[in-house]
Amino acid sequence: MTSSKVELPAEVKTDAAALMASLHLMPSPVPNPEIKYTKIFINNEWQASESGKVFPTYNPSSGEKICDVQEADQADVEKAVKAARAAFALGSPWRRMDASERGRLLGKLADLVERDSAYLATLESLDSGKPFLAALFVDLQGTIKTLRYYAGWADKIHGLTIPIDGEYFTMTRQEPIGVCGQIIPWNFPLMMMAWKLGPALCCGNTLVLKPAEQTPLTALYMASLVKEAGFPPGVVNILPGYGPTAGATIFHMGIDKVAFTGSAEVGKLIQEAAGRSNLKRVTLELGGKSPNIIFADADLDLAVEQAHQGVFFQQRVSAAGLKGLAVEESIYDEFVRRSVERAKRKVVGSPFDPTTEQGPQVTQEQRQRIMELIQSGVREGAKLECGGSVGAGKGFFVEPTVFSNVTDNMRFAKEEIFGPVQQILKFKTLEEAIERANDTDYGLVAAVFTNDLNKAMTVSTSVQAGTVWINCYNALSCQCPFGGFKMSGNGRELGEYGLKEYSEVKTITMKMTGKNS
Ligand code: NAI
Ligand code: MG
Repeated sequence: MTSSKVELPAEVKTDAAALMASLHLMPSPVPNPEIKYTKIFINNEWQASESGKVFPTYNPSSGEKICDVQEADQADVEKAVKAARAAFALGSPWRRMDASERGRLLGKLADLVERDSAYLATLESLDSGKPFLAALFVDLQGTIKTLRYYAGWADKIHGLTIPIDGEYFTMTRQEPIGVCGQIIPWNFPLMMMAWKLGPALCCGNTLVLKPAEQTPLTALYMASLVKEAGFPPGVVNILPGYGPTAGATIFHMGIDKVAFTGSAEVGKLIQEAAGRSNLKRVTLELGGKSPNIIFADADLDLAVEQAHQGVFFQQRVSAAGLKGLAVEESIYDEFVRRSVERAKRKVVGSPFDPTTEQGPQVTQEQRQRIMELIQSGVREGAKLECGGSVGAGKGFFVEPTVFSNVTDNMRFAKEEIFGPVQQILKFKTLEEAIERANDTDYGLVAAVFTNDLNKAMTVSTSVQAGTVWINCYNALSCQCPFGGFKMSGNGRELGEYGLKEYSEVKTITMKMTGKNS
């Protein structure tokens, strides 16, 4: 950690970041980080792919290759599933382990992530393009807290005793499901891994996880920490590779549960495959088109900044990014003016510059997809207020972009845009705002800005979304369930609800020779 007096970008103003800034301590990235792990991790060992194939991972800031990674496909996944099955077998060290010991191992893993957080945040920035300080204060903190949260749960998962009719004694037990297949995206590589690993291991499952092909490096480094923490071989297996090969094998095979975060398109394939094979448990987190309703009585400075952060947070690669920003008519023009002014102040640049608020998009393809949607907005008559072009340099940058005069039927208002593009819509009444907010197939998150309690609660209870934020945005926490209504997903991650998705409930009933008292 070195000392400097740089102002922190708004999106990393967490308590920890504010404390460090007040002490004039600014953490710095690890210079020229060594890439130690590029192989497949099965049975606590590093293995080359069966096919001999490798694939490249790129630095989105320069477009240059960072390194090659071993490419897992079906044969490797089968090996990993075998290892995970053996680790889950009755009598194995993992199955015989005390729950408190499982908790201790998860806590140890959290400590190791904390120890190496500057390195891990550097690697995350390098591979994904997200600003280093955001990676450190948001992604790494989220990862560590999630692992600690589930470490604490491991020996607190209780069953019930149930007074059933007749001469019986009945109790329930929460047992692990078995081998879990986990497929994660590139937007929060480490944090998504912690959201998957934490509850799965806490409940005693074993797992095979495939990181996104765009961002495999931090997951592989985490694998080394899993081994260092002391998890038995086969409990955690990490297989870098592509979706249609490695990923598709994970959800087709005799795996007991699949947890997926990514596009609705792939989510549907998973659900179908589960139906055609062993009806495995499936949890899905598929993003959405999240409404943010801003009433005229809201604190305008707060609403403008939070709406800005909601959209532009980490290049807006958060599935919770605000897509349906709807502003009450009487403040619409002023809101647009301030939002444009804020977007123009956005610092775009190298993820390793501490003043950078926005880095590049993760890949050329993602940038292309965003540019197409921007162009469709222009064609359909939305007003481009600022941005709208690719940024300067070789990296996959997109300028912070704001559109006004956006209407519900425009293509880019309906499709999810995973990029720094703010679309501002207008509404007149509360009833209309709610109706339009619900007129979507998705329902991940929603937000409302108002100083009127009645409006806040009416929107919160009427809008179909898994999470509603009032006068705040992105207030995500590992203690709260997160997930979607409608096509945004299936099941919940995080919090106590997250445990249910990784356990089966068993009812045990014993015949008694007398009546239960
Ligand atoms: P994707 O859904 O294709 O990829 C996510 C993960 O699924 C990756 O690990 C990928 O390798 C894997 N995958 C892809 N095809 C698969 C298949 N046939 N079988 C099994 N696994 C497969 O998403 P992609 O292409 O990276 O992004 C496309 C769009 O999806 C984005 O523009 C965004 O709208 C949405 N998305 C939503 C996310 C969320 O947090 N809900 C995260 C990432 C993308
Ligand atoms: Mg990459």
